[in-house]
Amino acid sequence: MPMKIRKGQRLELNISGIAFGGKGLAKVDGLTVFVDKAVPLDTVTARIIKRKKRYAIATVDALIEPSPFRIHPPCKYSGLCGGCKWQFLIYEKQLEYKRQHVVDSLKHIGLIQDVLVHPTIPSPLTFGYRNKMEFSCTDRRWLLPEEMGKDGIDRGFALGLHVPGTFYKVLDTEACLLQPELGNHILNDARNYMKNSDRPAYGLRSHTGFWRFLMLRHSIAFDQWMVNIVTASEDRKTLQPLADLLLDKYPQIVAIVNNITSRKAGIAVGEVEIPLAGFSSIRETIGRYEFEISANSFFQTNTLAAKQLYEAIQDYTALSGKETVVDLYCGTGAIAISLAGFAKEVIGMEISESAIIDAEKNCRINKVFNCRFVQGDIKESLSKITIKPDVIIIDPPRAGMHKDVVRRVLDMGAKNIVYVSCNPATMARDLAVLKASYDVLDVQPVDMFPHTYHIESVARLRRKRILA
Ligand SMILES: C[S@@+](CC[C@H](N)C(=O)[O-])C[C@H]1O[C@@H](n2cnc3c(N)ncnc32)[C@H](O)[C@@H]1O
Repeated sequence: MPMKIRKGQRLELNISGIAFGGKGLAKVDGLTVFVDKAVPLDTVTARIIKRKKRYAIATVDALIEPSPFRIHPPCKYSGLCGGCKWQFLIYEKQLEYKRQHVVDSLKHIGLIQDVLVHPTIPSPLTFGYRNKMEFSCTDRRWLLPEEMGKDGIDRGFALGLHVPGTFYKVLDTEACLLQPELGNHILNDARNYMKNSDRPAYGLRSHTGFWRFLMLRHSIAFDQWMVNIVTASEDRKTLQPLADLLLDKYPQIVAIVNNITSRKAGIAVGEVEIPLAGFSSIRETIGRYEFEISANSFFQTNTLAAKQLYEAIQDYTALSGKETVVDLYCGTGAIAISLAGFAKEVIGMEISESAIIDAEKNCRINKVFNCRFVQGDIKESLSKITIKPDVIIIDPPRAGMHKDVVRRVLDMGAKNIVYVSCNPATMARDLAVLKASYDVLDVQPVDMFPHTYHIESVARLRRKRILA
């Protein structure tokens, strides 16, 4: 008789696979159990916390036999912090599971079975690789397990990363190993200043308070830093001493800005930006190109891996120098600029005004004269352009393309499409529509986000032959 599984029940489980989101998978009498913080070949005692008709969710109570794929995570927040969830998994296995996730998404969501998915290209750095970090401020600090029940712990302020899946639980992160070391010193100086100031941290439930985010950007090529202090209102008197202090102490900081946001959403982008010290942007290089990046513009967060990503994109475009290329969701123009030397013309399209300003500036910096940019929501602007591109690059945000945009891309009839995505699920959904007119030739996963379950992929599509 099949075993009855109920919420609250404890079970010994053998973990046999891994699901997207990083949860381990076990089977109990045909029922799939997703086990948080477990990896393949672990044997665990787990407690069922949710029971649905077709699956259950469990958390690990005890590790009976650890998987050979487990390692000791170097970060003290591992297992608690949402910044990265896979530090305890050896890197080779991370790469393998990420590729498998791409394969599974194509198969189950896109119904694309027999496409070649290459092995994941590893990130050149697995720690200190992020060039941008966003730390949230809160008036209620989330305690570490060893701090629970202790006296004298200040719970009133935190500046750090979120506990997974929550908008209001913020750890007081002293160091994040995903950013270069100096970022942690800047983080701690900013924290001390904010905490001891007479302005309060923003309450993530009350939506009152002043300090909202600290955003740090780093340029590897020039070893320069940008500090973006995001607040709920303008208060130069409070902010200027912090900017001066940081600029004095760290010669590597070249830009300090203040973004002001009145929005409740936890997004570190302001409606207004006030320069506080130094410049309002930093410069970075990818390959032989140089880019100027301002606080609110999109730029790939792993600079060294971005070089590999752009090489894969260039390879898939197979340009001869004669093509017209449309680069959808072009951000600060990094892909457009890296392809410009191999194409007749590149037209970048992007919603963010600051990104377009940066993209145009970046063309001038790189002496690229055959790129132009169209600012606006692609849903509207794509139907207005009359160009017949040979190649379309599509690099949408996590949510993928709007279905009207997918239809419009099909109408444009480009010979080749290169689809770049940080979300295999929405990529598979969009490819499922594009495959009506295009063959998906192959897919290259590129790891831009070590120790997280996220994966970037590049898919090569070629228009099907229309038989007369
Ligand atoms: C994943 S990023 C791509 C960046 C760029 N291709 C690069 O490699 O640096 C997605 C970009 O899409 C832009 N975006 C999001 N929604 C958009 C829309 N509806 N219309 C145009 N651009 C949009 C975002 O501002 C962001 O710059």
